[in-house]
Amino acid sequence: MPSDASTSTPTLAVIGGSGFYDFFGAGAREVVVETPYGPPSAPITIGRVAERAVAFLPRHGRSHEYAPHTVPYRANLWALRSLGVRRIFGPCAVGSLTPDLGPGSIVVPDQLVDRTSGRPQTFFDKGAVHVSFADPYCAELRSALAQPGVGDGATMVVVEGPRFSTRAESRWFAAQGWELVNMTGHPEAVLARELEMCYAAVALVTDLDAGVEVGGGVHATDVFAEFERNIGPFKQLLADAIARVEGDDTCAQCRVHDGVVLPFELP
Ligand code: ADE
Repeated sequence: MPSDASTSTPTLAVIGGSGFYDFFGAGAREVVVETPYGPPSAPITIGRVAERAVAFLPRHGRSHEYAPHTVPYRANLWALRSLGVRRIFGPCAVGSLTPDLGPGSIVVPDQLVDRTSGRPQTFFDKGAVHVSFADPYCAELRSALAQPGVGDGATMVVVEGPRFSTRAESRWFAAQGWELVNMTGHPEAVLARELEMCYAAVALVTDLDAGVEVGGGVHATDVFAEFERNIGPFKQLLADAIARVEGDDTCAQCRVHDGVVLPFELP
């Protein structure tokens, strides 16, 4: 018999936009979690998706009060792990750097490039802990997201924001062969890796970035409107992926501290 979300431990989580709240039917509960890094973006909702307990954390806060560069990423990842979460899907909005991926496209990135600056991006300010990050996303979670019509593999460059890129920056990103641009993909993925949690991003293209577009560049109102237009199929993709995830524990790829002496115990 499936367990009740109100009593079972969530081992899987979604960090996404507030449009994901209605993922859960009746019986969802909210948990307020404190961490050594302060509170996470919002209380964590635990509900049921595909017969399993799933935690949901709105990345930007309940009323979108955190801009991409002020999201409390360390508190978010710490809070989820302390609840028992070991595997995380990170849906996000992205701009496209190529006309081949128009608005509405969904892509599962396989690489990221960090162009942020000044964000706290590690739990290991002390000690000699250097995690492997060659492949920043969990292969098992990426394959759970695979389905016809969903792009498999892309490089996502993460910019500091909150402004969008200039045309020159955008053209430069595209010239490197990078396909997607976003503001929240870093340090979310690396902090998950540092806490030995599987993590896969899944990107919804909301706009053609400034270097691609012939018109007036990117506008936030268009980005939010395009996200809203596609939120239904995007949520369905996540629900399908959650149903396909096997196991409740960190996979071998994302278990990066074997044999390493850590300066503190993971939560
Ligand atoms: N998020 C959505 N669209 C974006 C863009 N064009 N640049 C950076 N982040 C984005």
